[in-house]
Amino acid sequence: MKKVLVMDGVAEIGLAALRREPDIEVVIGEKMSEDELCNVIGEYDAMIVRSATKATARVIEHASKMIIIGRAGVGIDNIDVAAATAKGILVVNAPDGNTIAATEHTMAMMLALTRNIPQAWATLRAGKWDKKSFMGVEFRNKVLGVIGLGRIGSAVAKRAQGMEMKVVAYDPYISEEKAESLGIQLLPLEELFKQADFITNHLPLTKESKYIVGEKAFSLMKDGVRLVNCARGGVVDEQALYAAMKSGKVAGAALDVFEKEPTTESPLFELNNFIGTPHLGASTEEAQLNVAFDVAVEIVAALKGDFVKNA
Ligand code: MLT
Repeated sequence: MKKVLVMDGVAEIGLAALRREPDIEVVIGEKMSEDELCNVIGEYDAMIVRSATKATARVIEHASKMIIIGRAGVGIDNIDVAAATAKGILVVNAPDGNTIAATEHTMAMMLALTRNIPQAWATLRAGKWDKKSFMGVEFRNKVLGVIGLGRIGSAVAKRAQGMEMKVVAYDPYISEEKAESLGIQLLPLEELFKQADFITNHLPLTKESKYIVGEKAFSLMKDGVRLVNCARGGVVDEQALYAAMKSGKVAGAALDVFEKEPTTESPLFELNNFIGTPHLGASTEEAQLNVAFDVAVEIVAALKGDFVKNA
């Protein structure tokens, strides 16, 4: 019997796919400290996490039987992949299931930001019919700069084109031909910063992308630029963003992700032209079903010694 520890509330469809297997026992874990996890992890052959549980090097050191860790989602920044690899533990994710959810959240944030929807609703709710404070701008004919033209970045680009935006993008891994076929002009990052009216980040957090949207980037941007980040915190330097918003350089910013999560405090939260959500990009019923199922399929395959797709 193989034991799978499932953390962080993975959707039932994924649990069902595991439970269907006669040789797999599923254990639903409650929230645990690192020490608590270290104490139990040695019993398990596999573990599934979303974002709350951290599979740190210490946890992995205690995972004496583990052969696979699955992330029900895209980002594997809560798993110490180097430590897992060194121990021969596979790390898999569910790269496709969240795409539409994250894309639609990005569009929602862009629209909410540009038309002041959260602020206007808060004012109306507080008993004021205020039409003057909430002048927006239109998307049509504006330049959207997409940083990172992967699955989500290109899906955002497609929707923005549907709203008659001109899309430019920075992505060192995409060919000119591919970008052209999507109707997108590839630009060096500095040029994107100079040309865009709206900027949306879709890069994961890596050594290279950390603070890529920082002080220097803001200095290059157009006055009145609007910024959205629904990918990963730490790509945008929040202190530099605060300064750029205070100076009026940035007309508005919408973040779904923060350098430190969870967080309920940030100087940004005091600014009227800032909106934020608590990392909701993947929070749709559909996405949670998709990622739970996809990761469960991978776990079953690995435990049976079959081919694993998303390692
Ligand atoms: C992901 O990496 O899948 C998304 O950011 C969603 C999440 O972490 O919950």
